[in-house]
Amino acid sequence: MNLKGNSGCNIEQQGDKVVKTAIGSYAPRLREQAQKQYCATSWSGTRNSIEGTPVLNIKEDLVGNDLKVTVTMPFIEGDTLAEELLKHKGISSAEDLGAFISSNFTFGKVWNSKVIFKNKIDDMIKKTPELQSELQEFLKEFEQDLGDIKGGYCHGDLTLENIIVGHKETYSTAARVLYLIDFLDSFIDTPYIDIATVLQDSLCHWSYRYTELDEDDKKYLRRFSQEFLERVGGNYRPTMKKILIFLLFKIYRIVPYAKDDVTKRWCSDNIKYVKSLFDCLPVPDKDNGYYSQYVNLNDFWRK
Ligand SMILES: Nc1ncnc2c1ncn2[C@@H]1O[C@H](COP(=O)(O)OP(=O)(O)OP(=O)(O)O)[C@@H](O)[C@H]1O
Ligand SMILES: [Mg+2]
Repeated sequence: MNLKGNSGCNIEQQGDKVVKTAIGSYAPRLREQAQKQYCATSWSGTRNSIEGTPVLNIKEDLVGNDLKVTVTMPFIEGDTLAEELLKHKGISSAEDLGAFISSNFTFGKVWNSKVIFKNKIDDMIKKTPELQSELQEFLKEFEQDLGDIKGGYCHGDLTLENIIVGHKETYSTAARVLYLIDFLDSFIDTPYIDIATVLQDSLCHWSYRYTELDEDDKKYLRRFSQEFLERVGGNYRPTMKKILIFLLFKIYRIVPYAKDDVTKRWCSDNIKYVKSLFDCLPVPDKDNGYYSQYVNLNDFWRK
């Protein structure tokens, strides 16, 4: 059975396995992504509730002069987390994901992110000249905040659709496990990317852009965001500001790939929304000039 694939990959279910292939220029990236997933089985394995989906095999062939990479993994039975959350509206996944991502910061690993962002933005402007003024403004506005950024393991594309809610047999019960799939090589390896990607769904509804969400769903996703943000330290001003910078940047990165009207509209609406969230961060006190370090998350929810 053919599973949907967005990038340069083909994805097929073959019995109890899933096989992902790429030929040509995307092949080395698929290999890198699969290696990241393979390593994730060990870094996430120490926690009971979140695991990288095992990689059974990474195979390389030549098709004519082109490299072909084939990755095999088990088929995980279950809904994606995006679907499951709206069905059951449980809050434990927000806590688990928050705790999991926070623990992925690697002690002592720091990126000089100013240079990395600058290079990435130069690259993006070459490919999408219409974003030039917005991206230059972004760089100017946040240059001060893009100093040293804490690094660590990151999935790279941790949308709620890239998490399958599966089960694992233990001695007497089948424990609920969140299996991570579809890892992505990222321009900077930091858990901030994963935090921003979760919020891209819970706060900005990226994975739900084709879904009709009712008031109850929206209210639940706000609660999810709140719980998640509290776990990752989003109520602390400097952390929240970095999270918002990564979130805004992630949305700019989607713009060149937005083909249909729903996605284009989603991008423009959410660029405005996330920009407005910077205004919800505490401002300096008139009398002493200092910032309060605490963010009132109630100001964040879309009116
Ligand atoms: N190991 C797996 N077990 C069960 N279902 C899977 C597995 N891998 C992928 N799928 C299903 O296939 C869908 C697409 O897979 P995946 O997320 O890897 O690629 P994608 O998001 O379509 O795109 P791409 O990697 O091309 O950007 C998933 O959303 C999931 O429903
Ligand atoms: Mg995916």
